[in-house]
Amino acid sequence: MDAIRHHTFGPPEVLVLEQVPDPVPGPGQVLVDAVAHGVHLLDTALRRGDTDAPLPLPSLPAVPGREVAGTVSDVGPGVDPAWRGRLVAAHLGPVPDGGGYARRVVTGVGTLHTLDGDAPLEPASAVALVGTGRTAVYTLDVAEIAADDVVVVTAAAGGLGSLFVQEALHVGARVVALAGGQTKLAALRGLVAGPGRDGRAPGPGHVDRHEPAGRDGSAPPDADRLALVDYSVDGWERAARAALGGERATVVLDGVGGELGTAATALLTARHAPGQAPHDAPAPGAAPGHTAEAPAGASRPGRLITYGWASGAPNRYTSWAGDDRIRPADGERGFEVRYVVGPDAPPMDDPRAYQQRAIAHAASGRWRVATHRVPLAEAARAHRELEERRTVGKVVLV
Ligand SMILES: NC(=O)c1ccc[n+]([C@@H]2O[C@H](COP(=O)([O-])OP(=O)(O)OC[C@H]3O[C@@H](n4cnc5c(N)ncnc54)[C@H](OP(=O)(O)O)[C@@H]3O)[C@@H](O)[C@H]2O)c1
Repeated sequence: MDAIRHHTFGPPEVLVLEQVPDPVPGPGQVLVDAVAHGVHLLDTALRRGDTDAPLPLPSLPAVPGREVAGTVSDVGPGVDPAWRGRLVAAHLGPVPDGGGYARRVVTGVGTLHTLDGDAPLEPASAVALVGTGRTAVYTLDVAEIAADDVVVVTAAAGGLGSLFVQEALHVGARVVALAGGQTKLAALRGLVAGPGRDGRAPGPGHVDRHEPAGRDGSAPPDADRLALVDYSVDGWERAARAALGGERATVVLDGVGGELGTAATALLTARHAPGQAPHDAPAPGAAPGHTAEAPAGASRPGRLITYGWASGAPNRYTSWAGDDRIRPADGERGFEVRYVVGPDAPPMDDPRAYQQRAIAHAASGRWRVATHRVPLAEAARAHRELEERRTVGKVVLV
C-alpha cells in the first residue's frame, strides 16, 4: 500500500511516498481503506525531530498521522462483519507515529465513528473533527463563552480558529478574528456567511456543503458580529481596538503565542477608545481598573485561553509559571489564564465524547468545516504550506 514515511528527521522533503506491507487487523480491530488523513502542526515538529514537542519522537522509519477516514475493508477476530463497507473516521491515539498517513490503517473497532448515518459527513471533514474538532469542543468548554462576551481569536482562519469563530458567533458573542492576510480573512468570512448567502465563493479553503444554522437551527450565524483584522499589517492593534469600539475584549483564544499572541492578549486590558494610547488613565470618575462604560462580559473576569504556541514562542502571559493570574496593575484590569495544553490543562476525560460532539456540530450545520486538501503523495508540500502559514482550515491529505 501507499504510505508516507520518513527515515530521518529534517525538512518536509524527508517525507516520501513508499510501498509498505498492508497491516492485518487483530482481535477487536478493523482495517480501514483510508481516503483522508489529518495533518497537524505537531506532525511538523515531530518530523523535524523537535524534542520540545508534546509527544516523544517516533522510532524511524515512521509513518506519521493520527486521524483517518475511509471505508472498513476487513475485520479482525471478534468484530461484527457488518462493519465491512461502512464509511468511518477514527482517531488513532496520542502517539507520534500513528500510521495515519497510509492508505490502509488498522484501528480498534471502539475508535470508529460512522459517517454514513442520518447526517452523512464527508471523510475530509470527519478527520478534521475527530482530532481538531474534539480539541475545539474541549477548548470551548474551558472558555465558557456566553452571549455577552467579546471574543478575540488568533489564527482565526486555522483549523481550530475557524471553529472557535463559528461557535462564538453561534452563542451570540461578538468576535474579532485575527489572521495573517486578506486571503485568510476572506475565506473566514465566506465560511461564516456560507456559499450562496452573498452569491460569492467562500475563498480558497474548501468548505463543506453543510447549510449554516444559528442558535435555533434556523438562522445563519450573524456575520454582523464578526470583525476581521489582518495582523500581518503593521499597526493592526489599532484596527483591533477600533473593532472593539472602545471596549475591552473579555476572551482571547490564542494558539499562536509570541509577539502576536501577547499583543492580542493586551486587548483584554484595552480600556481606551480608538485613538487613545493603550494605558491611558481611566476616564474621570472611573475607579482604577474599570472603564467609564460597562464593557460587555464585565460580570466575569477576562479569560486568556491558551491552546498552543504556533509561533514557537510563548505568549508572555503564559510564561508566568506558578502564577496564572495576572495581577491588575495600575490602570490595568486583571484576567484569568486558562490552559488547554501543557501541565496546567484540565484532563480531557473521554476524548471520544468530545469527538462525538464535534461531529454532531458539523452534522447539524452548527459548524462548517474548512479544509486545505493536498494529495497524500504530496505530504511534504502539505507540511511546508502549514509551516509557512499558507493554509486555511484543517490540513487534510486526500
Ligand atoms: N489541532 C489540534 O487538535 C490542536 C491540539 C492542541 C493544540 N493545538 C495547537 O493549536 C494551534 C493551532 O492549531 P491548528 O491545528 O488549528 O493549526 P492552524 O491554525 O490551522 O495552523 C497554524 C496557524 O498558526 C498561525 N501561525 C502563526 N505563527 C506561525 C508559525 N510560526 N508557524 C506556523 N503557523 C503559525 C498561522 O495562522 P496566521 O497566519 O493566521 O497567523 C497558521 O496558519 C497550534 O499552536 C497547535 O499546536 C492544536
